[in-house]
Amino acid sequence: MANDGVDMGRRRFLTATTSVVGGAGIVLAAIPFIQSWQPSARAKTAGAPVEVDIGKLELGQMLISEWRGQPIWIIHRTQAQLDALPSQVSRLRDPDSKVEEQQPKFAQNEYRSRKPELLVMVGICTHLGCSPKFHGELKPEPFDPEWKGGFFCPCHKSRFDMAGRVYQGVPAPTNLVVPPYYYIDDTHLMIGLSEGAV
Ligand code: FES
Repeated sequence: MANDGVDMGRRRFLTATTSVVGGAGIVLAAIPFIQSWQPSARAKTAGAPVEVDIGKLELGQMLISEWRGQPIWIIHRTQAQLDALPSQVSRLRDPDSKVEEQQPKFAQNEYRSRKPELLVMVGICTHLGCSPKFHGELKPEPFDPEWKGGFFCPCHKSRFDMAGRVYQGVPAPTNLVVPPYYYIDDTHLMIGLSEGAV
């Protein structure tokens, strides 16, 4: 995967629109977003699976979708972010994803995903439910001088790496949750079901 030259400082956040979030276009006027799914009100109430178009998700970008009322983060990880994952293992609480409830079986691997480059997670802190912030750059941060990209929860300073694995010594007890999902094709995901292709 060619990520050379990607300016992580340009990291942008994309959001999938929904028929519920009518004001999304106003709130996020300065932010490019992808219109990728339009579930019916009935489907949302039932927690039905949600189809997401990831065709325009560029390296280093995050797309925010929603499933069962929860934010679903879809992140196109760079090669540098993937390469840094092993370097964090000794600092993590559950580097091998042994707490089974935190991900489907298919994500019990070093990337916690079906395909290494694409991370899909529930964007809710496993401590008390705040929404962690995405800090994708591999550079020292005030909250961690050895930062290799990941997620920082401002509520009580929990940290997670670029696979959503929780660091030792923070309040969050477990890794971030990976929801069930599968690839419909190369550019479409189905969130909420594990069955399907690839
Ligand atoms: S809710 Fe995230 S650290 Fe407490």
